[in-house]
Amino acid sequence: MPASRLRIALLSSLLALLCSACGGGGGGGGGGLALPAAASGTTADAGTSSATAADTTTTAVSDQPVAAVDLDAALRAQLSANGIVAPARPVVDAALFALGQNLFSSTLLSGNQKVACASCHATGNAGVDGLALGIGVDGTGSPPTRSGTPVIHRNTPALVNHGQGNRRFLFWDGRVAVRADGGFDTPAGNRLPAGLRDVTAAQALFPLISRTEMLGAYDPADGNALADLVSDDAVEHNPQPVWDALMQRLRANAGFAAQLAAAYPGMAPADMGIAQAANALSAFQAQRWYELGSSNRLIAYAAGTGDLPEAAKRGGLLFFGQARCAGCHTGPLLSDQQFHNLAVPQQGPGFGSGAAQTPPRDLGRYETTGLDADRYAFLTPSLWEVKNTFPYMHDGVYATLEQVVRHHLDAAGAANAFRCPATPSVAGNAVPCQDSQNAPALYADMLARLAPEMRTPVVLTDTELADLLAFLDVLADGNNTAVR
Ligand code: HEC
Ligand code: HEC
Repeated sequence: MPASRLRIALLSSLLALLCSACGGGGGGGGGGLALPAAASGTTADAGTSSATAADTTTTAVSDQPVAAVDLDAALRAQLSANGIVAPARPVVDAALFALGQNLFSSTLLSGNQKVACASCHATGNAGVDGLALGIGVDGTGSPPTRSGTPVIHRNTPALVNHGQGNRRFLFWDGRVAVRADGGFDTPAGNRLPAGLRDVTAAQALFPLISRTEMLGAYDPADGNALADLVSDDAVEHNPQPVWDALMQRLRANAGFAAQLAAAYPGMAPADMGIAQAANALSAFQAQRWYELGSSNRLIAYAAGTGDLPEAAKRGGLLFFGQARCAGCHTGPLLSDQQFHNLAVPQQGPGFGSGAAQTPPRDLGRYETTGLDADRYAFLTPSLWEVKNTFPYMHDGVYATLEQVVRHHLDAAGAANAFRCPATPSVAGNAVPCQDSQNAPALYADMLARLAPEMRTPVVLTDTELADLLAFLDVLADGNNTAVR
């Protein structure tokens, strides 16, 4: 039904204009406007500029002559209603940044001194490793050629715009979060050090005590003494000995001692704790991955200082309208900062209690809240730079944006149709993989809790799908290049 789709798209544009004129919206409502109004059959003249396409084939949707000015006005109204604005330039002290930059690439922060933050979050791209699942403590090399073991539980997220103050949740399951009182909820509970500058600083404490990411296993025979300071597998129950030992290492290193002194003038070295290192890591990330509003194509367009390919503009209207992406990907981060179960196919070792189940699984937000409704729910990811952050989803199960979008358009269909490769692997390591054929009960469990928004498939023509992908392509600038 291309004609009705076209009418809906145009109606959506018109409503966006009206909406922006009346000041409504407030972010998050963009995706819900089109369908009910279209069903009412009013505003017949909304389709005037499209009359030629009304009875042609599906490809005509992209060829139809919507006046360019209408398209621009409609899309800019949607961008404004959804709060798509240039990120604020982070204010970062130069000495703190310099310390953070060196810390981020330093293997001193890992138990066996082989792994740095940058081993997984490459500093030359959007902060990703190009792998479906990260490779932890015993890995070698840097992205994009990192290999070895162990394959860890999730896909390495991009770090774009992590310094923006409105970000409330970190990790795919949001287990590090900003509390209403300005404090932080984390797996370490009240064992968090004082003086953390923001939620990104709080997050930085956790790779350091993760046995698979940077610390290493408890094993008195393997020469990694730092990992043996605490015998509990869950180091977050007693993290201080590890954090203290790491600070001792840094203070004993002449270069870091000098950088710490420069970043914290007036603070005695003995008073510097892991919070001082974490704050520097946060400052570095905020500055390095700040998405320049001037060179990001969509932000420049929204501000009226740049243009976009026509296909991307049409795709933008789909994103905020009929394809209902902005129901969740909205606001300055292109994320509602909520958790949703999209029934993403399962691969990898799983996480938390789910790792111990047969087959292993990742229960996402449920591990933090214990709520049944949160099983398999994950944080809506930000989409800035998304074309450079493959593979996609919390477990990196999809290699391309087309696969991701097709999954969103019909989540149940895609989940059921997904088939594990014959030999599922990440960088040469065999990994568990479940599909609806080899794990029907798991898929039934996931699909029983599928996000309500995802239950009705959205039907797009191939041209519309291509337009939507063209829109995803412009959520980037030229400064953060792909990992390969
Ligand atoms: C072994 C690979 C690896 C290393 C090393 C690593 N990370 Fe990560 N990082 C990940 C993965 C995977 C996740 C997602 C984990 C999850 O959701 O449970 C993540 C999550 C994050 C996040 C949250 C991103 C978001 O949007 O939720 C930040 C910030 C981050 N890491 C920064 C760091 C810093 C700082 C270091 C060094 C102290 C570091 N990482 C070390 C792989 C790694
Ligand atoms: C119901 C909320 C919701 C809606 C609607 C939605 N998304 Fe998502 N999106 C998510 C969540 C949650 C994830 C992560 C799921 C996971 O990994 O389990 C995600 C993941 C993605 C990713 C992968 C990003 C990455 O870094 O891995 C892309 C791209 C994306 N969505 C684009 C879209 C597009 C395009 C649409 C519209 C067709 C859309 N989304 C509609 C919630 C939503």
